[in-house]
Amino acid sequence: MRERDLWYKRAVMYALDVETFQDSNDDGIGDFQGLIGRLDYLATLGISCIWLLPFYPSPNRDNGYDVMDYYNVDSRLGTLGDFAAFIHEAKERGIRVLVDLVVNHTSDQHPWFQQARHHKNSKYYDYYVWSKEKPKEPIAQPAFAGEQAGIWSYDEIAKEYYLHRFYSHQPDLNLSNSEVRKEIHHIMGFWLALGVSGFRLDAAHILVQSDRDSDSDVYMGFIEDMREFISMHSRDAILLAEASGPPEVVGKFFKGKDRMHMMFNFLLNQHLFLGLAQKKGTAIAEGLRILPGKAYTSQWLNFLRHHDELNLEDLKKEEQQDVFEKFAPEENMRIFERGIRRRLAPMLHGDRHRIELAYSLLFSLPGTPVIQYGAEIGMGDDLSLPERNSVRTVMQWSPEENAGFSDAPPVQWPRPVIDKGDFAYQHVNVWGQQRQTNSLLNWMERVIRLRRQCPELGDGKCDIIETGNEQVFAHSCGLQYTLIAVHNMGETACTVTIPDLIEQDATILEVFSNNNYELPQQGQVKLDPYAYRWFRLHPKNKAKENL
Ligand code: NOJ
Repeated sequence: MRERDLWYKRAVMYALDVETFQDSNDDGIGDFQGLIGRLDYLATLGISCIWLLPFYPSPNRDNGYDVMDYYNVDSRLGTLGDFAAFIHEAKERGIRVLVDLVVNHTSDQHPWFQQARHHKNSKYYDYYVWSKEKPKEPIAQPAFAGEQAGIWSYDEIAKEYYLHRFYSHQPDLNLSNSEVRKEIHHIMGFWLALGVSGFRLDAAHILVQSDRDSDSDVYMGFIEDMREFISMHSRDAILLAEASGPPEVVGKFFKGKDRMHMMFNFLLNQHLFLGLAQKKGTAIAEGLRILPGKAYTSQWLNFLRHHDELNLEDLKKEEQQDVFEKFAPEENMRIFERGIRRRLAPMLHGDRHRIELAYSLLFSLPGTPVIQYGAEIGMGDDLSLPERNSVRTVMQWSPEENAGFSDAPPVQWPRPVIDKGDFAYQHVNVWGQQRQTNSLLNWMERVIRLRRQCPELGDGKCDIIETGNEQVFAHSCGLQYTLIAVHNMGETACTVTIPDLIEQDATILEVFSNNNYELPQQGQVKLDPYAYRWFRLHPKNKAKENL
């Protein structure tokens, strides 16, 4: 890839689910036309890439991750024509679109599975993984502890067991079958031809595991084929892996130049929450230190929360406990024995200082940031909803009845709006925050704007700066300019020395902070409780350029 094609290193991403974003035809379900109507909002928020959650025809038993047809749009959300119009309108505004590629499994309602279970002689039988007897020692554990009894279920029609790493209604595809691999390439080619800028490869770490062999490298060749396919069919489309696990597992996805362009940074995500819970900067430094190496063209995708649980599985038991105690003290806030089913703002009790601290970290850490729809206004969660639906409520646009989401009665909606407590749409909504100068939404627009002006954060060389104070995290990112960010995770004010700010030949500009501070003297940086300060060093003769 040429330098200018590395757009994903400079991107600010926004994840959304069409069905909960904006309804345009009053049937109570968000749709592509509704989304098109909100593109100006997204463009002026400043994001440059949308990650669209699955919108394919689906029985919707796993929020659309149970696909019934890979080549279409669910009729509740619109048509393929609406999709094409959406891509066109997004491009007009300089916004790219990534879509989910869910090929670890299909829905059990997919015609392939229906053919397979009824006709063992059909080619579709080999699209799935079958066993006459129930395997005694399955090589993998269910992905959702406490929700699934196991990874093999009996099919009454086929009279055999089939493999499913996720729910029993999601049979796993058989990736050792070359026909299945061909089919996946077809699917990719189809959506690339419609103008998408790449794919989020769902459950990538599970996809590469063989059902019969514990060697997780078995299907890495398949990942490399996908990379080759995408490079041959598009100048700049990318593959983003949803791969979690310890450094040695996720590191494989970044090996060399021919695997993933991007990967969700689950390891840093967990350490960010550990740092917020323990009020320590050292946890974040550790989260960066353990990351596996990557090729120059690869990039981490940093996040705080998204549509799934906050997964804490890579922290030590006592660290997990710290995070649970601080952010999910009640049993109902936890899920799958390893996670938290809450949004960020309620986890931080709506404390604006801490919310800004968390997002200032997200936007300044090395990598590309992604936020979930509604994060920009500090939307809350609804713990009365089952499972992960707690964090998937409809977008809160205005204080009017139905929050501006739909004119249909709420019983017809995919999920309700939050209408009680501190995060109710009557107080937390886009319209209200656009009118308030000091709103979180206006703050978010500022940080996104600044982030996009500082390519060193996405593409620069990152160094952790030792401050000798464990509640502080400081780092620098250098490209053409150097940005130094200092964060105080603690609840007490402090002053630290940042040697890099005793620079002689550069002008120090404070470009973002939680307060109006004096410029540091002799590298002494004063910090309020939960403070953040970003400095940019400009070589003296270039100080007027670029800002
Ligand atoms: C990963 C998705 O993020 C999650 O929401 C889904 O439940 C699983 N894949 C299984 O499809």
